[in-house]
Amino acid sequence: MQPRLVIRAASAADAGAVSSLRAAVLAEGRWFLADPDEVELSVEAVELDLRRLDREPNSRVLLAWRGEVLEGACWLRGGRLRRVAHEAALELMVAEAARGRGVGRRLLREAVAWAEGQPGLSRLCLAVMADNHRAVALYRAAGFVDEGRRVGAVREADGRLRDDLLLARAVG
Ligand SMILES: CC(C)(COP(=O)(O)OP(=O)(O)OC[C@H]1O[C@@H](n2cnc3c(N)ncnc32)[C@H](O)[C@@H]1OP(=O)(O)O)[C@@H](O)C(=O)NCCC(=O)NCCS
Repeated sequence: MQPRLVIRAASAADAGAVSSLRAAVLAEGRWFLADPDEVELSVEAVELDLRRLDREPNSRVLLAWRGEVLEGACWLRGGRLRRVAHEAALELMVAEAARGRGVGRRLLREAVAWAEGQPGLSRLCLAVMADNHRAVALYRAAGFVDEGRRVGAVREADGRLRDDLLLARAVG
């Protein structure tokens, strides 16, 4: 029998697994702006980032583990300036082999629930490629509403232009 899915807050000790997950999903080259060589993915850098986020009351990183396997991660990065400290930017990813089985929905639900309990947070926001239909459907189902469409905001190496959507949700 498969181990059950456990969602818990990340700690610095998870940096290796988080770095591998992020590298694999970015290498797919379809969902996020960055390619793997454009961001700092070393275990040391991820560990520093996890430690920093852990100290911020408006930030949280949640991980979805199935036994020893990291199946997904969700980052809530709180605004660092006072005027935007009530907002957290959300990023969500599930390992390719684990998609379509409810892991993303669980992570998102728990991230929203955590944010609801933070008195300093009142808004979650994110950007998603408009053609990422699975993610867009998931966010809308979780109460995120469209705040805008950035037409041609993303240009692929072959010159093809893609739109992204800005979505947000009130919390608290
Ligand atoms: C987007 C992502 C996080 C969703 O996680 P997941 O575990 O695959 O999704 P779930 O199994 O929890 O499905 C949640 C919802 O997604 C939607 N969905 C799932 N598969 C879909 C598909 N093939 N097409 C459209 N919507 C789909 C549905 O609304 C589904 O709810 P339902 O089961 O009631 O129909 C995951 O697919 C992923 O990591 N993709 C690559 C990275 C990415 O796109 N991240 C978001 C960038 S902003």
